[in-house]
Amino acid sequence: MNAPVSTAALAESVAEKSLLRFITCGSVDDGKSTLIGRLLYDTKLIFDDQLAAIEKDSKKYGTTGPGIDLALLVDGLEAEREQGITIDVAYRYFATDKRTFIVADTPGHEQYTRNMATGASTADVAVILIDARKGVLTQTKRHSFICSLLGIRHVVVAVNKIDLVGYSHVVFAEIEQAYREFAEKLGFASITPIPMSALTGANVTAPSPDLPWYRGPTLLSYLEEITVEADRVNRPMRFPVQWVNRPNLDFRGFAGTLASGEIRPGDEVTVAASGKTTKVARIVAMGGDLDLAQAGDSVTLTLADEVDVARGDVLAPPTDRPTVANQFAARIIWMEQEQLIPGRSYLLKLATRTTPASVVAIRHKIDVNTLDELAARTLSLNEIAEATIETASPIAFDPYSENRETGAFILIDRETNATAAAGMILHGLRRATNIHRHATTVDRAARARLKRQKPAILWFTGLSGSGKSSVANRVEQMLVGRGQHTMLLDGDNVRFGLNKDLGFTDADRVENIRRVGEVAKLFVEAGTLVLCSFISPFESERRMARDLVGEGEFIEIFVDTPLETCIARDPKGLYKRALAGDIPNFTGVSSPYEAPQNAELVLKTADADVDALAERVVEALLKRGFIESFDDPVI
Ligand code: ADX
Repeated sequence: MNAPVSTAALAESVAEKSLLRFITCGSVDDGKSTLIGRLLYDTKLIFDDQLAAIEKDSKKYGTTGPGIDLALLVDGLEAEREQGITIDVAYRYFATDKRTFIVADTPGHEQYTRNMATGASTADVAVILIDARKGVLTQTKRHSFICSLLGIRHVVVAVNKIDLVGYSHVVFAEIEQAYREFAEKLGFASITPIPMSALTGANVTAPSPDLPWYRGPTLLSYLEEITVEADRVNRPMRFPVQWVNRPNLDFRGFAGTLASGEIRPGDEVTVAASGKTTKVARIVAMGGDLDLAQAGDSVTLTLADEVDVARGDVLAPPTDRPTVANQFAARIIWMEQEQLIPGRSYLLKLATRTTPASVVAIRHKIDVNTLDELAARTLSLNEIAEATIETASPIAFDPYSENRETGAFILIDRETNATAAAGMILHGLRRATNIHRHATTVDRAARARLKRQKPAILWFTGLSGSGKSSVANRVEQMLVGRGQHTMLLDGDNVRFGLNKDLGFTDADRVENIRRVGEVAKLFVEAGTLVLCSFISPFESERRMARDLVGEGEFIEIFVDTPLETCIARDPKGLYKRALAGDIPNFTGVSSPYEAPQNAELVLKTADADVDALAERVVEALLKRGFIESFDDPVI
């Protein structure tokens, strides 16, 4: 047994000994926290002050009667102590003479699948807890599936509370068989069932006389001895560039952490995106230049030639490059309370690269209990699917099965900055990689010049009946009267043709605005002033449309009419029917409207008539130089 160690000593031992990362997964009361507490306690990694606090807390919160409650060692958060559940991922460190361990302790209950995914993404081994009295549960299956999804190759089936079933060999054998049957499809490299009692300590760090029929390792000896595949160092070299370091004209270095493989000065490297190849000149690190850098090392590389490299680029060997594409198939775990909407724009972060992206289509979702593939148009919190992802620009990546660092990504909600999904890339999609932009000789500037205007999108948003179409219509009349070239796209009209296949679910509205945004963009390319009149209830898609054109070319006009006024006007009698429950998903009644926060213009229809409001729009165009005043000399 080891003596208690200081944090500094622990840090030192991490540097010297081999490191094993593992994750523990289990249901709320499978005894997971007790198990980790037992490992920490038996390896004597508890500090005196911590121990005193736990003894005190054991009296207050403890669930184990007299004596100390080991679960309190690991249940760090006040909230979870009070609820008796674990609600976040906590990383804990402990060491034996043979190895240093980092254990990710993750919550067991269903809504926190996302936390589990976070903990599993760096683990080499998963310890899956099963209560011997309950056997293989839905949760067990879900956790195992997520572990396999995240590339964990080795699983310990910790059959806990074996004391409560009289140390029964039969119960243990049944659980082992049930688990193996289920896990067959998951492709783990090894499955090791171990009977144990975290509470009594049986088979956790020392064998137990109560389990004479068991000949395998204790949990700790398993963890000390398991060899995990020679990992990241043996994979092809990937160097995602974190930032370009240019302190003066004589030095241009590319800083980052080597994701996999190794690199030496003189090695040939290719910039994945551009395909340009050069050689590594120097490997600069904190203490001086290095002859070798390996996966996990943070270094700055200088290159022999002046090639273009930007943040987010990936350097790789010329003979073993990552895929570069803007479409790929991936497994994703949905992590947001709000449902996934295909077509909506998120930020995708993969290694050091961040780029707008959307889920183009869900191929199928996966029932985590049966592993069946089910048809789906959307995903809810914790659901897992295979999907097609498209990024705004091509990115470099590897399949997750080949490289966890360059094959995993997250999707970030652009409004809240929260992580909306975690994803693992399956493969790039060829379809998208064979399409290339074709440069046209007559460009948008030439087209606009001919029309004597600067093109723009005038985006009218507001509730149904707010008056946006009336104002847009009047603005177009005025513009045409001034000799301008315009086009008006109106919600009702577009839905008779291009978008006749769309209804009013959130997903359909997103697709409606996506298509309209693309059409409006084409009109901008044609040099036209495009007026778009759509409820466009979501901030996200209005932003997506804005991002399609250049800075300043999107003028958002919020036609701000209170809902009560729209209901009172009810020009098409739709509110009456919606309020009676005859029209589902009606904006303002049974579907939300997110009012713009930063519109370029806000028109309050209660304050002025249509003509006056339309004048304001025309004035805004004059002021911004999109059109010219009659007094200006003709160019
Ligand atoms: S959007 O939400 O997808 O932007 P859009 O502007 O194209 O909507 O279409 C809105 C028009 O469709 C409304 O002016 C109304 O006439 C009609 N409509 C029919 N059903 C609905 C509904 N459930 N919600 C809102 N508008 C509806």
